[in-house]
Formats: sequence, C-alpha cells, structure tokens
Amino acid sequence: MEFSIKSGSPAKAKTGCVVVGVHEGRKLSAAAAEVDKASGGFLTEILRSGDHGGRKGSTLLLHKVRKVAADRVLLVGLGKSSEFAEGPYRAAVAAAIRALKGTGAVEAAFYLTDLPVPGRDIAWKAEQAALLAAEGTYRFDRTKSKPGTKSHLKKVALHAEGKADVEAATAAIARAGAIAAGVAMARDLGNLPANLCTPTILANEAEAMAKAHGLKCQVLGEKEIAKLGMGSFLAVAQGSREPPRFIILEHAGGPKGVAPVVLVGKGVTFDTGGISLKPAAEMDEMKYDMCGAASVIATMKAVALMKLPLNVVALVPATENMPGGKAVKPGDVVTTMSGQTVEILNTDAEGRLILCDALTYAERYKPAAVVDVATLTGAMVISLGHIATGLFANDDALAWELVASGNAAWDRAWHLPMWDDYQEALKSNFADMPNVGPRPGGAITAACFLSRFAKAYKWAHLDIAGSAWKSGAEKGATGRPVALLAHFLARRAA
Ligand code: BES
Ligand code: MN
Ligand code: ZN
Repeated sequence: MEFSIKSGSPAKAKTGCVVVGVHEGRKLSAAAAEVDKASGGFLTEILRSGDHGGRKGSTLLLHKVRKVAADRVLLVGLGKSSEFAEGPYRAAVAAAIRALKGTGAVEAAFYLTDLPVPGRDIAWKAEQAALLAAEGTYRFDRTKSKPGTKSHLKKVALHAEGKADVEAATAAIARAGAIAAGVAMARDLGNLPANLCTPTILANEAEAMAKAHGLKCQVLGEKEIAKLGMGSFLAVAQGSREPPRFIILEHAGGPKGVAPVVLVGKGVTFDTGGISLKPAAEMDEMKYDMCGAASVIATMKAVALMKLPLNVVALVPATENMPGGKAVKPGDVVTTMSGQTVEILNTDAEGRLILCDALTYAERYKPAAVVDVATLTGAMVISLGHIATGLFANDDALAWELVASGNAAWDRAWHLPMWDDYQEALKSNFADMPNVGPRPGGAITAACFLSRFAKAYKWAHLDIAGSAWKSGAEKGATGRPVALLAHFLARRAA
C-alpha cells in the first residue's frame, strides 16, 4: 500500500474513488457537502431516498456522479455527529477500506481525515487511516495452494489542507508506513504454523530481516546458551527435538556508548504445555505463543525503517514447549542464569522460564529500560479480554510512558498492580521460588516472577495473551503491540 497526502476539492480529485462521510440524520460532512454541491444536489437526493442513513460502518458506492472527477464516490456512515470520536473515526475508515476492496479502484482519496475528532490532530488521523488501510488489506496466503483474489486498491491519498497540516500528515504517514511494515511482519510470523516457524526458522527470518535493513544479528545455539548458564531456558527446550535459539538484534541508531532500550520477546513457537499437557481444544492457537518474539523482531524492522536515532536491542529466547522422554518434569529444580533456583511445578508456565534468562542476559547492556512482550498467561485474557494489553512495571514513569504510547498509537495497554504483597504467592519448599502460584491473579504472579530477574534496571512487562491474536472466524495475528512499541521508541528518540 502506498500512502500520500493530497490537497484540493473532493469534487476535482482525479482518482478511482473519493471517500466522504455522512452523519446520521443525513448530515453531510464538509467534503460530502462539496461533492453534493458540485453534483447539483445528487447526494442529498440519494440520502432522501433513504438508501444511506449515515449509520456507523454503513457504506454506499456511487458511480459516475455528475460533475465529479473521480470514477466513484463512496459514502461512509459516521453515526451520530454528537458521538463522533476516535472509535467511530476508525470504524469509518475500516468500513471504507472494506468497501473499496470490493471495487476495481486502484487509488482512493480519503476525505475522512477532515472530520474533527475531539482531542486528535491531523497527524493522528492520518496515521490511523494509513495503519487501518494496511491492516484492512493484509492477507496471509503463504500456506494456501493458490493465492486468493487480491484487492485492486494500491494507493491511498489522504486529504490535508494548509502547509502545517500537510507537513504534519506527511510525517505521520511516513511513520505509519514503517509501523505498518512492522505490523505486517509480526502478523506473518504469528500466522505461520509451528511446523513452518520453528526456533531455527524464526532465527533465520530475524537474520534475513536484519540483513535487509542494516541491523546487527547474532543467533546463539544450544551450546552457547548452555555456556551462558541459561538453565531455565534450556529446561523448557529439552523436551523438543527442535533445538532452541537465542536471537539478538541490534539497532545502533544512537551515539556509541549510550544506554540502549532492550526489548525481550517470548518465542515459544509452539506451546503444548509440556508434561503438564494442555487440553486439545484450540491448542492450534498455541502457534501464536511466539507473538511476543514476532512483535519485537518486527518492531526492530520498524525502528530501522524509521531510522530512529536511538540504540535498541531485541532479545528472543526461542523454543518449543513439548512433552517427551527428555522433557522437564513437574517438581524438577533448575538453576537460572541469575543463579536463583526455580522449582518447575507446572511445565505449562514455560514463558517465564525462558524470559527470566533473557532478562538476566539483558543486564550486560546496562539498559536505559527493558520491555518484555509475552503471550504469558491465560489469566490475562480473563482480566482484560482482547482489547487492552496488560502492563506491569517496576517503575511508574516507564509504565505511564508505555500507556501514553499505547494511547497515541491506539494500541492500548492497561497498567496493573505488582505490589510486593503479590510476591507472597511465590513460595517453594525446594527452590528459591516456584514457577507458579495459586490461580487467583495469575497474570500478576507471572509478572512478579519476572520482576525477580529485572532488578538491575527499569523494566516493564506487556502480557499480550489477549491482544496478540483473534480467534474464531477472524482467526489471525493482530501484530500488536508493534505500534505501541514503535511509538514508545520514537518518543524516546525525539
Ligand atoms: N502461552 C500460555 C498462555 C496463554 C494461554 C496465552 C492461553 C493465551 C491463551 C502460557 O504458557 C501458559 O500456558 N500459561 C499458563 C500458566 C499457568 C500454568 C500458571 C496458563 O495461563 O494457564
Ligand atoms: Mn504454557
Ligand atoms: Zn506459553
């Protein structure tokens, strides 16, 4: 998808389709009113017929509207004008993209960016429109024998008027293009089935991306991982015939010697639960258990495309979690890279076991901040559902920085508590700690476990168990939280 910013009247835009909004009660937006006027009241006539009520998400495609230069006019319902806000704006853009996909239009001019969204500027509206256009036209057909029908839509021009707005919108779509490329990569990696996305393949994908975008990449194998003393990571990996990988990506955009931001992503390419085997229903979705890894690798791509003047590192412990003759058993005690010992009471709580060693590895960078991203707990899905990502941190300023970045990117996270009281849940008679606590507050105990390995720096943990993918008819990876992370890093670079 190609994005551009264009000025000028919607009636005069020579394009495949002009997209304008209509509120409920036949209230034309300013752009729709211009089209109406040029066409001698054609839109008013149509609306009077009752064919388009302005209902949120409804669309009506008109062909060859008289005195309008574009081949088509797409009317998009905006809902009640009194209720117009971020949600309806995004819904209108998404509906427009859906409708355009069914047409032969190769190029479309969006005038929805003119609509006033309380509290949001042209940059936000342009970025969201571009991200939604990319999201709406994304397809995954690498695993189909024949590719499906492609949509014709290739170019989206967003309307902005006046020097300041044009400049702001132009910068916004440049950033959106980079973020969209990252989101698409995260979705692709997530959607790949586990047989086509083993730890080795994931590492190869990271290496190829690094090579293409000028990042440094290093991949450690089993022997090197053992040498580092990552006993906890290796305990998870030992049940699989697929060897583990530890992936290190580096973007040296900032001055040499300046502390980097380190991202850590959970890379369980398939989570069976191990000996604490998961039930069969929906187990296929555990191919998404590497979405944290996918998001940090893909964020590095976005960072490279944005050429951020910032030092950023991504660390990915990648492994399968399998039962097997050599698999780790409930009750086994392992020694982590930090020296702390862990009693593995449940082999299905494997994410924290691989992340803790990566968090210890991160210490060598003396990082400015560390953010880990993981599909860590089913409990997270119960607490926040599929809308917000769960956020935990040992530093309030870092937490709010991430919340603000999520709000700006509309890839939202919610800050949960991680008070010391919750640490009480982690007590073992045989090791320094168990890898699980009782069921209540499971997402928080998981965060507490990780916090014990993140004492040397400012750290935040994003539990994306609910936000990384969708189930059901729309099953697929979302690419979250690439947009949040990209905004966070862009803010840090500014
Ligand atoms: N990958 C899962 C978490 C998960 C489950 C994410 C379902 C999304 C949907 C993780 O490895 C896991 O199995 N966690 C256990 C922890 C428990 C044993 C303490 C869980 O949440 O059930
Ligand atoms: Mn698990
Ligand atoms: Zn898992």
